Amino acid sequence: MVLTPRPGIIKMAPYVPGASKLKGFDTVIKLSSNEGALGPSPKATAAFKATGNELHRYPDGNALELRKSIGDRHGLNPEKVICGAGSDEILALLARAYAGPGDEILFGEHAFVMYPIFALSVGATPIKAPETKYTVSVDALLSKVTEHTRIVYVANPNNPTGTMLTSDEMSRLRAGLREDILLVIDAAYAEYVIRDDYSPGIELVDASENVVMTRTFSKIYAMGGARLGWAYCPETVCEVINKIRPPFNVTSGAQAAGIAAVNDVEFMTRSRDHNTEWLPWLSNQLEGMGLNTVPSVGNFLLVLFPRSGPHTSDKAMDFITSRGIVPRRTSSAGIPEGIRITVGIEDEIRAITGAISDFMKKV
Ligand SMILES: Cc1ncc(COP(=O)(O)O)c(C=O)c1O
Repeated sequence: MVLTPRPGIIKMAPYVPGASKLKGFDTVIKLSSNEGALGPSPKATAAFKATGNELHRYPDGNALELRKSIGDRHGLNPEKVICGAGSDEILALLARAYAGPGDEILFGEHAFVMYPIFALSVGATPIKAPETKYTVSVDALLSKVTEHTRIVYVANPNNPTGTMLTSDEMSRLRAGLREDILLVIDAAYAEYVIRDDYSPGIELVDASENVVMTRTFSKIYAMGGARLGWAYCPETVCEVINKIRPPFNVTSGAQAAGIAAVNDVEFMTRSRDHNTEWLPWLSNQLEGMGLNTVPSVGNFLLVLFPRSGPHTSDKAMDFITSRGIVPRRTSSAGIPEGIRITVGIEDEIRAITGAISDFMKKV
């Protein structure tokens, strides 16, 4: 007899994080993980450091003060907020709580690459629905629903495409799903979206017993190293997740930094304004070189390279990394022609734009 993991885990392609190192370079320009360009609020960093003196103490297992701060900032009842070690943890806990062997977990063709991993880890079957123009299609999702469907994950905006569904489309999706299907709206990039027809989904959570919205401190708050995410859930879902959540899943440092970050509205606004300025600049530059980009509302841009000839995404990646710059391939999300670029600071954006321009001039 050989020690064997559960069948879903054997099928799973492991998650490969955005690279942060390159052979031959002491430092690199890292544009591979959609980390907020301006870094964290200095107030968050100071709050994190201050917890170092209390390292021997367990954190508040209920993250009470943090949940209150999140509630105050977003006008939410803190009783309906849960916190996790990154939103990844909450997304995984939802799968564990609501799906298992024989069940299906549904998402778009180019969805966040962790969704199949969450499904397979609990023994459920991941199901992909086709997308239209790199955008989730509500009709395609609805057409893939079966009696086995238990969870639908929609990242809004989606990573790695940067595209979004309007609040009307999200409502239409919820209305078209059975009551026993949980709709998980993963709004990791919500703070970057400046369009009026977008909503992170709070009103959908309020209107039903089967919608959850997840958020993260890893993107606009640039605190990926602290591992902090949260979710706004119906009370029944909170109760369920609190039963299976590890008791001290959010560290003291993450809690303190999260409180400081969420209260530093001025810094968050500056981070968003930076993105609002540089995302279109980056897109215009690349389009000007004859490349197609996917319209993004997040803090990153998906660039599409020709599928053959001298300017494929493989060759582009080799060229860009030879300059010490690391964006992210999107093959694992079913987009082999794509490279995803995080909107960094001005020098970083100019560096990658310059590299791609030189690459496109090469025959
Ligand atoms: C759409 C989406 N959801 C969730 C996450 C997970 O973020 P974290 O676990 O750092 O909160 C990411 C990170 O890249 C993401 O892009």
